[in-house]
Amino acid sequence: MAIALAIAGCSASGHPMTTLAPKSNLAQWIQNLFIEVTVWDAIILAIVVCAFILAVFVFSSRVGEAAPASAASSDLGLEIAWTLGPTLVLVMISVPTIRTIFRSQPALAPAGALEIKVVAHQWWWEFQYPDGAKTANELHIPADRPIRLLLESADIIHSFWVPQLGGKRDVVPGQINELTFVATVPGMYPGQCAEFCGLSHANMRFRVFVDLPDDFAKWDRAQLAGPAATPATDLLASNGAKIFANSPCTTCHMIRGISKGYIGPDLTHFGSRTTLAAGVLKNTPENVAKWIGNPQETKPGANMPALLLPGPKMNALVAYLEGLK
Ligand code: CUA
Repeated sequence: MAIALAIAGCSASGHPMTTLAPKSNLAQWIQNLFIEVTVWDAIILAIVVCAFILAVFVFSSRVGEAAPASAASSDLGLEIAWTLGPTLVLVMISVPTIRTIFRSQPALAPAGALEIKVVAHQWWWEFQYPDGAKTANELHIPADRPIRLLLESADIIHSFWVPQLGGKRDVVPGQINELTFVATVPGMYPGQCAEFCGLSHANMRFRVFVDLPDDFAKWDRAQLAGPAATPATDLLASNGAKIFANSPCTTCHMIRGISKGYIGPDLTHFGSRTTLAAGVLKNTPENVAKWIGNPQETKPGANMPALLLPGPKMNALVAYLEGLK
């Protein structure tokens, strides 16, 4: 029951953080290895348990009986058997393990791979595409095309982990680690930083959207475009645009054509994301206002300072940001 509850806790509204439902070639290889090793382990367990049961119930003395005769102190046949047996088992386990290690870390990018730069920050993820598109905490990739992630850190060690798309890969300052895979099933897969990186390590989440190639191309085009124009008729949002342009937000956040900050996430297409605060909150106007007014409540230790605005001004700013599709 406790285990069932613990496992249920890993499910994000129908999107499980499971390693047992692979949706990429890499995750499938790891799953195959897991099953192969588990089968060998099960065979060994069965042999050990059988030997144990035999020893306890068959080869033991009963009350009143003499102790059974012990085997000869050296038996060459037995010596060879229990040296070769474990060696064989180790070989059966190590061969597929080593094969999977090399397979999962190709030195070169596969032909036609889409290379995406991933920068880990305390506590959010930045994704930069080769065509200039840039987003935060929500990675879009096309299905059935090799993806090569180039993982960098802006500060300390993090670890990139999307259980359904593959194993963890450390993100280490001063070097670029790679993660290469082909996602095979369109859908949304939750990810999480898997290396303790400070107060809000647990709040360093993200989402990977595996899109059909056409949908990905559409998304990419939209991200490359400038920010959504604020219709002159939308008074609230155009007031919000002015509030943003004159706020300290511009120091850290970029909205292309409006501000040049780069310390925090690029907000040019903020309204097109489903979540905010590194996947912690759903992207709704209420949550955006809550986040801006008190980031520490959602993400303790976050670098973002609170921006205290009277209600109407906050509503205008939120309307502007949500309009940045
Ligand atoms: Cu980043 Cu834990």
